[in-house]
Amino acid sequence: MSVELTPEAVSAALQEAVSLVQNSHDFATLKANKGLIVGESSALSQLNALIKNLPGDQKAEAGKLVGGARAQLNSAFAEKEAELEKVAAALALEAERVDITAAPKYLRSGARHPLSLLMDQIGDVFVGMGWEIADGPELENEWFNFDALNFHPDHPARAMQDTFFVSPVENHLLLRTHTSPVQVRSLLERKLPVYVLCPGRVFRTDELDATHTPVFHQVEGLAIDKGLTMADLRGTLEHFARVMFGPEAKIRLRPSFFPFTEPSAELDVWHPGAKGGARWVEWGGCGMVNPNVLLAAGIDPEVYSGFAFGMGIERTLMFRNGVSDMHDMVEADVRFSEQFGSVI
Ligand code: PHE
Repeated sequence: MSVELTPEAVSAALQEAVSLVQNSHDFATLKANKGLIVGESSALSQLNALIKNLPGDQKAEAGKLVGGARAQLNSAFAEKEAELEKVAAALALEAERVDITAAPKYLRSGARHPLSLLMDQIGDVFVGMGWEIADGPELENEWFNFDALNFHPDHPARAMQDTFFVSPVENHLLLRTHTSPVQVRSLLERKLPVYVLCPGRVFRTDELDATHTPVFHQVEGLAIDKGLTMADLRGTLEHFARVMFGPEAKIRLRPSFFPFTEPSAELDVWHPGAKGGARWVEWGGCGMVNPNVLLAAGIDPEVYSGFAFGMGIERTLMFRNGVSDMHDMVEADVRFSEQFGSVI
């Protein structure tokens, strides 16, 4: 079908193209319609192409007609393009808006468990005196946990109600009931003199209640050298007590019994900051290492002597920081840990 180049045709083509412009409601549609509106195949371009076939004297007028229409269309297109560009920019600005009044997303940083913090702190006290940190396995040989520590084969602590034995019983494996087996391990592994501190996890067949837990922590100290006496034990523990409980803290030793120390003592600490007022608190056990333990480690007790001590970390945290229920220590609620600070 041939198109006639008439003013009506030009005006119709212009109107159609302008309405296409008007109906492009977003930038993408306008771009997609660009070919139809102003491209080679658009109605106005086709009419424009007819000009060259006209007789010479009609060309100027037809050119003016089509050119005028194209100019109008181009400006309508440019206007729409500018408008839609503005809208797109405003939408992008809105989408990327930062609300500086919005409540921040609070990332909880967590906190280390106070038992870990306390064990580190105790470790620092002794490392500061030149001691080393030692460790041993939690799954222990009965020999290290009891025999080498001079426990009689019938000692009640070996009985099933205290100790988690690991089957088969013939293997003589158990979950260590205290950190004292590290005493013998350290003596076998290290060269004398030995000054070691061993914080670690221990196990006993207790039910969990406010003051007991079947899994708990102890810290063990062991010093073996030439000429060590009970005075060295006292001095060491007194220093330890002052760092932990303040300069007014003092200690008291009460005669006691442990198979692996002789003489043995219960250690009490005068805790100036105790909840409800300063008072004596039972803190742990200690004594001079029994010669039989030195012999089990191949050390001549005539030449070397030394002392050992051990205390519960949970118990220490309880009376030092006024924690009254053991459950708080095992439930892993970060709100409990956070009270002790978020030290890394
Ligand atoms: N191992 C003892 C206990 O668990 C504590 C202790 C350690 C006593 C070292 C004396 C010397 O009760």
